[in-house]
Amino acid sequence: MEVQLKPWSLDDIPDIARHANNPNIACNLRDAFPHPYTLADAEHFVSGCIGNDGIGQLCRAVVADGAVVGSIGLFLGSDVSRKSAELGYWLAEEFWGRGMMSAAVRQLCAEGFTRFDLARIYAEPFAYNIGSRRVLEHAGFSLEGILKNSVFKKGRLLDSCVYALLCP
Ligand SMILES: CC(C)(COP(=O)(O)OP(=O)(O)OC[C@H]1O[C@@H](n2cnc3c(N)ncnc32)[C@H](O)[C@@H]1OP(=O)(O)O)[C@@H](O)C(=O)NCCC(=O)NCCS
Repeated sequence: MEVQLKPWSLDDIPDIARHANNPNIACNLRDAFPHPYTLADAEHFVSGCIGNDGIGQLCRAVVADGAVVGSIGLFLGSDVSRKSAELGYWLAEEFWGRGMMSAAVRQLCAEGFTRFDLARIYAEPFAYNIGSRRVLEHAGFSLEGILKNSVFKKGRLLDSCVYALLCP
């Protein structure tokens, strides 16, 4: 299924709130991504994406067949990390396993390296999140290391991975 990325619009709030309200998504993300995920959470998120577009971040809605089905973003570092950006993403569960996020990651990283003076884009999936690790590998990221016991999620200590893509 073909994937497009588009800037966020306030019209996307109901769709994104519905798709994001899923424990199978939240359990793979930082606690800042809430569960349950309410309409107010979606309003806050989308408004922030619109207000800060291109200013320290580049957030896009993932679109398939004209519908918003996920979220992807680059978050620029500061100070000595200002040539690095962190990548984050999630997709509505009904669309998993069709290569959509691998395509979205490739698109956003290409745009990120074009728009910003970046040396590196990185992501830190939990080590058990094989699907996310495969997405990064498909998009050309390299595994730089595994951070033992670096994450405390839902009462459990977990390992996380550092994956990076260097500016071509
Ligand atoms: C991770 C996520 C974005 C993947 O999106 P997706 O569009 O399904 O990913 P793709 O289809 O592009 O690629 C997934 C790959 O992982 C594989 N995969 C997925 N789940 C897997 C699992 N549990 N075990 C092994 N492989 C798995 C798929 O087979 C595919 O590999 P392949 O193309 O080599 O066959 C989606 O599952 C998601 O939103 N998860 C919840 C949120 C999340 O984890 N976000 C990332 C945080 S770092």
